[in-house]
Amino acid sequence: MDGNGRWAQNRGRNRSYGHQCGEKPVREVVETACHLNIGTLTLFAFSSDNWMRPSDEVTSLMHLFKSFLKLERWKCRSHGVRINVIGRRDRLGPSLREAVEAAERFTSGCRRMHLRIAVDYSARDSILEAVSLGRLGASPTRREFSSLLNLAIHSDPPAPDVDLLIRTGDTQRLSDFMLWECAYAEMIFVHGMWPDFRGRDLTKALEEFNQRERRFGRISCPPHKITGHRA
Ligand code: FPP
Repeated sequence: MDGNGRWAQNRGRNRSYGHQCGEKPVREVVETACHLNIGTLTLFAFSSDNWMRPSDEVTSLMHLFKSFLKLERWKCRSHGVRINVIGRRDRLGPSLREAVEAAERFTSGCRRMHLRIAVDYSARDSILEAVSLGRLGASPTRREFSSLLNLAIHSDPPAPDVDLLIRTGDTQRLSDFMLWECAYAEMIFVHGMWPDFRGRDLTKALEEFNQRERRFGRISCPPHKITGHRA
């Protein structure tokens, strides 16, 4: 969800204003994804490297996450959306950690969609954490490693590999997001900034995804559509 800061600065406002305005597209995208029968939606909200931002920006983001979790858990539960915050938990403030655990408990029975919000997330750190759990045999399979990775980032339930990665903000890089899980992800880079992203943009991205031929290293593969597919 890139581009909040630039979006706000282009309007003569501070970066935190951009993050606040980034909440509306989050709600729209969750709703649209739900209607499109997406199995798992992961939103990259705060990377482990984002701690290096100015403290007022970090504080306002943490407030935003907390209020989002407190308010949206009701709507999520009524729509069958299971909330799950992935990433490190030990560096979150106690009140945010409580809000995370409460939202996860509150929606734990939901089965329609798994909504993962990545906070204090780093793909490289999650790989190191998976290794340091000490449960890998001498020659682990990809499947075994994936399940340890899910454990390391607190993904509950464990999620499959990423099918489609969408990045807004006119930037074409991964920025330490799901490096293992994106091995065969299709990528769509959007010119617009995150606060301007709408549900229809997600629908459009899925249409583009559904046109792409995914071969997973083979010569051809059966079509793999997202809409109607439960991951
Ligand atoms: C990256 O844009 C965005 C973030 C670091 C924060 C994302 C947060 C939201 C969209 C707020 C709402 C989210 C939830 C889950 C309630 P940037 O600040 O790096 O933008 P820039 O590249 O223009 O500086």
